[in-house]
Amino acid sequence: MANRGNFSGRLGFIMAAAGSAVGLGNIWKFPYEAGQNGGAAFLLIYILLTFLLCYPIMLGEIAIGRKAASDAYGSYKQLGGKNWGYLGLYGILCGIMILSFYNVVAGWAFGYFLEISFGNLLDHPNYGTFFSEYVIDFWDNLIFSACFMAITAFIVLKGVQKGIEAASKIMMPALFSILILLIIYSLTLPNASAGISFYLLPDFSKINFQTVYSALGQAFFSLSLGMGALITYGSYVNKNQNILSSAATITVMDMSVAFLSGLLIFPLVFSQGQSPAEGPALVFVVLPGIFNSMGPIFGRVIGGGFFLLLCFAALTSTISLLEVPVAYFVDQKKWSRKSTTWLLAGIIFILGLPSMLSQGAVKMFSSLPFYQGRSALDFVSEVFSDISLPLGGCLMTIFIVRRWGTHNMSEELYQGNETYKNSLLEKYINFSIRYICPVILGIFSILIIIDKFYGVDKLMN
Ligand code: PFF
Repeated sequence: MANRGNFSGRLGFIMAAAGSAVGLGNIWKFPYEAGQNGGAAFLLIYILLTFLLCYPIMLGEIAIGRKAASDAYGSYKQLGGKNWGYLGLYGILCGIMILSFYNVVAGWAFGYFLEISFGNLLDHPNYGTFFSEYVIDFWDNLIFSACFMAITAFIVLKGVQKGIEAASKIMMPALFSILILLIIYSLTLPNASAGISFYLLPDFSKINFQTVYSALGQAFFSLSLGMGALITYGSYVNKNQNILSSAATITVMDMSVAFLSGLLIFPLVFSQGQSPAEGPALVFVVLPGIFNSMGPIFGRVIGGGFFLLLCFAALTSTISLLEVPVAYFVDQKKWSRKSTTWLLAGIIFILGLPSMLSQGAVKMFSSLPFYQGRSALDFVSEVFSDISLPLGGCLMTIFIVRRWGTHNMSEELYQGNETYKNSLLEKYINFSIRYICPVILGIFSILIIIDKFYGVDKLMN
């Protein structure tokens, strides 16, 4: 155990876990999900679900990891026996598959950084066309996402403190600063207020089943929950750390970046007269417009800076995604950290190729016959993230309630926070883990599966 590595302290853990949470999910996915699902109504449900379900789940994951001081598989096995270990393996599989498509999108962001800073992207007459042509460019995508995976592997193999923690401590504050600057600028644009109303004034008639489950999937993805990433990071946390306050800080930081990204994007969307329901292309199509309006030099600097920071945010997340399977092989199979990291990075990169080729480059991957003609990237992200993460969270609460015991979870949380004992918060957390989480997540997991494969509306008609 001595050489598993540890975070240096409270700040190190918070920055690394917040780095895992804050990523493409906040800046790329959150705005387009909100844009497609009613804006403010989505935001409201997202915030509600985060407090109701996600915060307790995050506490559960960190407590499991710190108690067992092992990887996702080892932790479940140690606290619950071999069969529960499979739940850890399920999480590791999700991590591998999420990283496979995540790395592709991170590669787009990396390419955009280069194209804006050093290429001619901002002079292009139509950013929508640029994006659709960009994502089918095989070589660019291959090279950029290979670079991204290599950088991820390089940091992961340096270990917990020197790699993961050090990288996050620099990148997170930089990201916050540039976001704030861009928001101030975007709020001064004409018609920005229409974007603000869309984003902040809820229209409750827009809330339906899909709004709720999209918000649920988004919250889990964004907070890196449901697949053991925080079990793994929790295993590197010192016993005297206050998990309750660290988890609260991580949650608030993650929500703030998502919230701020919306505050940046929607005024821009409306000031340029575009549709907020653009889908995954949203930030790639809308943002270049504002950078262009800043003038040729300033636009390159700020635009390049933004996409560089998006890469940083993505990088602290890809690091955590890779760390989950790496920790498993290092802890359980006693493989060396170095070869495990490179081997897994290579395999996961190859697993991502169908997603990379699914944006129109190769027809077979762009339109999957068994998935309502949708793309491989949609398939992987929806199956292993939208469906599997809430399900993983549900199974984790069942593990705590039926096997490990909520009293043991509480015991773990007392360490570092004596005042938690018998507090109202403790009662609430236990109630949520016992009843709210398993019931709501269980019901939604089933409905989401039905909807993704058959369509819930068909079921109702
Ligand atoms: N939370 C990351 C994001 O919002 O971009 C994505 C992610 C990272 C999901 C790590 C799951 C995970 F374990």
